[in-house]
Amino acid sequence: MSEIETLKQWIDESDNIVFFGGAGVSTESGIPDFRSVDGLYNQKYKYPPEVMVSHTFLTQHTEEFYDFYKEKLAAPVLNAKPNVAHYKLAEWEKQGKLKAVITQNIDGFHQLAGSKEVLELHGTVMKNYCEKCGKRYTVEDVIKADGVPKCSCGGRIRPDVVLYEEGLDMDIMERAVRYIQKADVLIIGGTSLVVYPAAGLIRYYTGNKLVLVNLSETSQDRYADLVIHEKIGEVFSKL
Ligand code: OAD
Repeated sequence: MSEIETLKQWIDESDNIVFFGGAGVSTESGIPDFRSVDGLYNQKYKYPPEVMVSHTFLTQHTEEFYDFYKEKLAAPVLNAKPNVAHYKLAEWEKQGKLKAVITQNIDGFHQLAGSKEVLELHGTVMKNYCEKCGKRYTVEDVIKADGVPKCSCGGRIRPDVVLYEEGLDMDIMERAVRYIQKADVLIIGGTSLVVYPAAGLIRYYTGNKLVLVNLSETSQDRYADLVIHEKIGEVFSKL
């Protein structure tokens, strides 16, 4: 049996699939990932991008933070749409086969595609709030603001995104752990699995149907029961 046929069989037979993904899920929508050769972290900036999406950078280089954030993280989301991988996952959930999508992505595409149980480990560009009064703002409000986005109360508006040096929401993390512990099939896709604590979630899986669908090799390939080094949208469109 080919790898795709095996995956198809596991999916057909399961009603407890959990998906855990990263930036590679949205590259076929036209949004670059972080670490591929054409990814965000291989473009030339004055500071390393990991620095530019850190809490220190937000507080100490606020103007530059928002320049980078608006152009490279927020605007591309508004100019793109979900792809077949997002839609397939939503379809499996609707059919009662998939329990949850756990994502490191901040683009909100899983919800746009129709997924309901989406755990966003790193937050979302879609939600923004005033640091002073808590008033909510849209991603459009942030993008169209001249320079640093400001609330009507004078406070700074920030995205509900987990920056480097900031902690993950423990409630979301615990829910992700529970879904993975109970999963029958765990599909991990489009993630280099190098950013912790998110990447550590894989260790909570105890089943024997761990699937990795990633264009390039990852350091976790050896733990998987099935490894497919192809584009996830292309793989999912065959299922
Ligand atoms: P990375 O850019 O580190 O990894 C994306 C992976 O997806 C790479 O291994 C690619 O080979 C693979 N890939 C790209 N296109 C693909 C496709 N069409 N099909 C299958 N695989 C594909 O992105 P993440 O692992 O998501 O954090 O990065 C994790 C975190 O690092 C992000 O959430 C972000 C970043 O810093 C924050 O911003 C907090």
